[in-house]
Amino acid sequence: MTYPRSVRMVEVGPRDGLQNEATTVPTAIKVRLIEALADAGLTAIEAGAFVSPKWVPQMADTAEVLAGIARRPGVSYPVLVPNMKGFEAAAAAGCTEIAIFGAASETFSRKNINCSIAESLERFAPVAAKAKAAGMRVRGYVSCVLGCPYEGAIAPEAVADISQKLLALGCYEISLGDTIGVGTPAVAVAMIEAAAKVVPRDRLAVHFHDTYGQALANILACLERGIGVVDSSVAGLGGCPYARGASGNVASEDVLYLLNGLGISTKVNLDKLADSGGLICDYLRRSPASKVAQALQARRRTS
Ligand code: HMG
Ligand code: MG
Repeated sequence: MTYPRSVRMVEVGPRDGLQNEATTVPTAIKVRLIEALADAGLTAIEAGAFVSPKWVPQMADTAEVLAGIARRPGVSYPVLVPNMKGFEAAAAAGCTEIAIFGAASETFSRKNINCSIAESLERFAPVAAKAKAAGMRVRGYVSCVLGCPYEGAIAPEAVADISQKLLALGCYEISLGDTIGVGTPAVAVAMIEAAAKVVPRDRLAVHFHDTYGQALANILACLERGIGVVDSSVAGLGGCPYARGASGNVASEDVLYLLNGLGISTKVNLDKLADSGGLICDYLRRSPASKVAQALQARRRTS
C-alpha cells in the first residue's frame, strides 16, 4: 500500500472544537490554546468564525482571539466566513485565510446558514472574489458528505457537485466533512473517488467527526487513496450546533499517532500536541477524548 510521504494536519479545535461548548471559553484560554498548538508544530490552526453571535455565541470573540495571538510566519490561522459581513470582519482583523462553508444537503444548508445550497454559492461568490483580490487564501468546506442529520444518506454526486462549484469560486482546497460522523471506509472511498473526478486529489482534504468511532479507519482509507490533508481537533473536542448528536472531530493526537506509525511526515510533535489538549481539557474539566492522549497521560503517571 502506498501513502503520501507527508500530510498537512489542519487543526480545527479552536473553532470546530469550541463552537459547541456549553460554557463559553474565555478569550485568553483560546489564545493560549492556539499558541500551544503552534508550539507543537501545527501550521494550519483554525482560529475562529465570523458568524452571527446569535447563532454561535462561542465564536463571538474571534476578533479578540486574533488580536491576542502572536501570528507566526509559516502558520495560517483561517476563520470561517459565511457572508460579506463575515468577510469584512475577517479583513478588519487582518486575516490572510478564510473558509467558506457549504453543504451537500439542502436541509443542513438551511439549518446551518439559513439558505439553500444555490443561495449559499451566490453569497460565497463575491466573498471569495473579494478575499482573493485582497490576497487572502480561501478554503472551502462541504458538510454532510457521508450523511445528513435531516436527510440521511447523501449521494457522492451531490458532494462532487458542490465541491466543483466551490473550486470554481477559487478555493485552493476543498475539505470534505462527515459532519455527523456516520461514515465507514467503503462509503468514504466512494465519496472521495466521486469528488476526485472533479477536484484534483491534491486539493481535497478530509474532515471526519468521530461519532461512531470510524474516523481513523476512514482517514486510513482516504490516505490510501492519495489524500494528503487531514482536519482534526485536539483532544477530540467539537461538534456542530446544527447537527444534534454529532460528536467531536477525530482527535489530532490520534491522527498524528497513526501518521507517525505509517512513517508519514507532519513536523508535529506528539507530546507538545497532547500538552495543548491537556491545557484546554484542564480548563473544561474533562478528560481528552483522544485515546492516544489518555495513553500518554497514563504512561506519565506510571513513569
Ligand atoms: P441570518 O439570520 O439568515 O442572517 O443568518 P441575516 O443576514 O438575516 O442577519 C441576521 C443578523 O445576524 C443580523 O443582526 C446580522 O447583522 C447578523 P441583527 O440585525 O439581527 O442584530 N449577522 C452577522 N453577525 C456577525 N457576523 C456575521 C453575520 N451575518 C449576519 N457574519 C448566518 C445567516 C449565515 C449569518 C447564520 O446562519 C450563521 O451565522 N450561521 C453560522 C452557523 C455556524 O457557524 N455553524 C457552525 C460552523 S459549520 C460546521 O461546523 C461544519 C464544518 O466543521 C464542516 C463539517 O464538520 O462538516 C465546517
Ligand atoms: Mg466539523
